Amino acid sequence: KKIAVVMGGPSAEREVSLNTGGAILGALQEKGYQAIGIDLNPRNFVEQLKNNKIDVVFNAVHGLYGEDGLLQGTLDMLGIPYTGSGVLASAAAMDKAVTKRLFVAAGIPTPRSRLYSKQETGGDLLSEIQGEFGVPVVIKSAAQGSSIGVTIVEDPADIDDAITEAFKFSDHIVVEEFINGKELTVAILGTDRPEALPVIEIVPESGRYDYRAKYTKGATQYIVPARLAVETTGRVQQVALAAYKLLNCRGIGRVDVMLDQSNHPYVLEINTIPGMTATSLVPKAAAAVGIHFADLCERILLTTVD
Ligand code: DAL
Ligand code: MG
Repeated sequence: KKIAVVMGGPSAEREVSLNTGGAILGALQEKGYQAIGIDLNPRNFVEQLKNNKIDVVFNAVHGLYGEDGLLQGTLDMLGIPYTGSGVLASAAAMDKAVTKRLFVAAGIPTPRSRLYSKQETGGDLLSEIQGEFGVPVVIKSAAQGSSIGVTIVEDPADIDDAITEAFKFSDHIVVEEFINGKELTVAILGTDRPEALPVIEIVPESGRYDYRAKYTKGATQYIVPARLAVETTGRVQQVALAAYKLLNCRGIGRVDVMLDQSNHPYVLEINTIPGMTATSLVPKAAAAVGIHFADLCERILLTTVD
């Protein structure tokens, strides 16, 4: 079977995706698979698949077109199997506003939030946010990854700029309660019986886990397994799994969680195309249970092919 690792594309996370895709491509080739890389160009994507006689797609496209259900829908129509989540799970997970509504409806703990569309940015928005959340408050684009469009606002005078920044990347935004505590993430593998890998604790040197802290080597300390009591670890893994199952995710995913000072977990979001770069989290969690990178890529691939 011929595999295409599809990567890149036009999103703000293009560079990250090229790194993710390059690493996966190398791993599959090392394992002896017949695999090529394809840079996602929405205008000739279908032709590229056909010209290269592709049987299976390994999806490594973060954000726009790759993580939001559009690539998945296209491949469903073409009858080409692909790694990871399907249309609905991808679309729901890519939109943080939709994800939050589903979490709330299902009783999955998530930070208190308000969702705003561009039409709602009137003059009293600022005082509304200040009144409801105070500072610090988290303001994010509803449909971005890698912390692009996310600001943790400490000074109320900066709320306006944070809103403008978030709206640059999507037409609706999430304003969210700031949880002061530990930043954690849980990688999940599998489809019918998904399993949580060890919890990772994220300690950025700058104090903020932003784009730079995510992709600069040495800028963040990762502790696997997280320094948590056994029962807290269990609870964090359990809410992460519940979130993954709620959205019907498939193959692979990474659930980001905050833990407050009283050890209550709050699910922030689900990443259905988690980064697989040299500094990324899922490979670290897998390595902690003895799954090497190439084996991890093969496992993700096999959840599709069988
Ligand atoms: N959105 C980035 C790639 C991640 O979740 O790892
Ligand atoms: Mg994300």
